[in-house]
Amino acid sequence: MGVTEGVQPPLGMLAELTHRCPLHCPYCSNPVELVTRERELGTDEWCSVLDQARDLGVLQVHLSGGEPLARPDLPELVTRASDLGCYVNLVTSGLGLTEARLADLVDRGLAHVQLSVQGADAERANLLSGAKAHDHKLTAAELVKRFELPLSVNVVLHRANHDQLEGMIALAERMGADRLELANTQFYGWALRNRDALLPTREQLAAAEPVVRAATERLRGSMQVVYVLSDYYEQYPKPCMSGWGAQQLTVAPDGTVLPCPAATTITTLSLENVRERPLAEIWYDSESFNAYRGEDWMREPCRTCERRTIDFGGCRCQAFQLTGDAAAADPVCRRSPDRGLVDALLEAPHGSNEFVMRGMR
Ligand code: SF4
Ligand code: FES
Repeated sequence: MGVTEGVQPPLGMLAELTHRCPLHCPYCSNPVELVTRERELGTDEWCSVLDQARDLGVLQVHLSGGEPLARPDLPELVTRASDLGCYVNLVTSGLGLTEARLADLVDRGLAHVQLSVQGADAERANLLSGAKAHDHKLTAAELVKRFELPLSVNVVLHRANHDQLEGMIALAERMGADRLELANTQFYGWALRNRDALLPTREQLAAAEPVVRAATERLRGSMQVVYVLSDYYEQYPKPCMSGWGAQQLTVAPDGTVLPCPAATTITTLSLENVRERPLAEIWYDSESFNAYRGEDWMREPCRTCERRTIDFGGCRCQAFQLTGDAAAADPVCRRSPDRGLVDALLEAPHGSNEFVMRGMR
């Protein structure tokens, strides 16, 4: 098959092995309607996806979910990805990561672990994950360091944990993290229904800034600190996915191939499945991957805006979610005619502090 002109191969693949998860985080960005175990790809199908991804050019495989440790065939999939020459990253809650399992995964070529953290202490963290998970995370981090694997700690920030920011940075240090990602909640999937309760306040964000700056300085050389802004409060949108269909692809548990992990948000997008079409064809030729690739789809104000090569018009999922039109400028942009929608959300009194914990549906 010929390569579509100008389209580069993907660098990374997010393989969502399962949506099953022992946690119930209210900020979960997975879709409201999850893929059930019966619809998940089998081992041979995932191995074929990995083979096809490597043929396509993928070098980094992120094994994710839900909780990828819920898949008994995880070791086989790590072996396959690693034998293909891919850098294999496990994105996990840490629950179920025993010494024996990690030893085996390391032996098979696991290269990196990304561990989620919900709060600075067990009480808050367990409350926010809806599970007695915190102590397991401490154990998981200790194991990862014992096996001398690089460790990333991922924290999703929101109104109910911003006050523990310093504590969570200190926790990541104690865990021996090489990288700490502090990401303000993005409102996709389940998280959207909790937006009211999760959206941080302007005061919280202002308080976070010097804390993050000081930690970044102090920890330079030992722990990389990455801070993801709360984009509703920004003037310009994030360069979502570094551009649609540009660098990454996601394969959902049932084999649906997504240009971005939240792409099921765009209900007008016709998505394809690796069970029905080769991955390379989907990457290069599918309607879904080509829909917002490059700049041809852009209208004003993006079409002639000098920032279009920086932010690619922002986030397609957010544009669809807020305006019903995925080809609109991201309403976060102050040049978007729809910016008023975001301002209205920010100005609305932050009513309820109650969020709905993640469930299957
Ligand atoms: Fe980005 Fe479009 Fe806004 Fe320009 S007008 S800053 S390209 S979203
Ligand atoms: Fe889908 Fe931004 S989350 S394009």
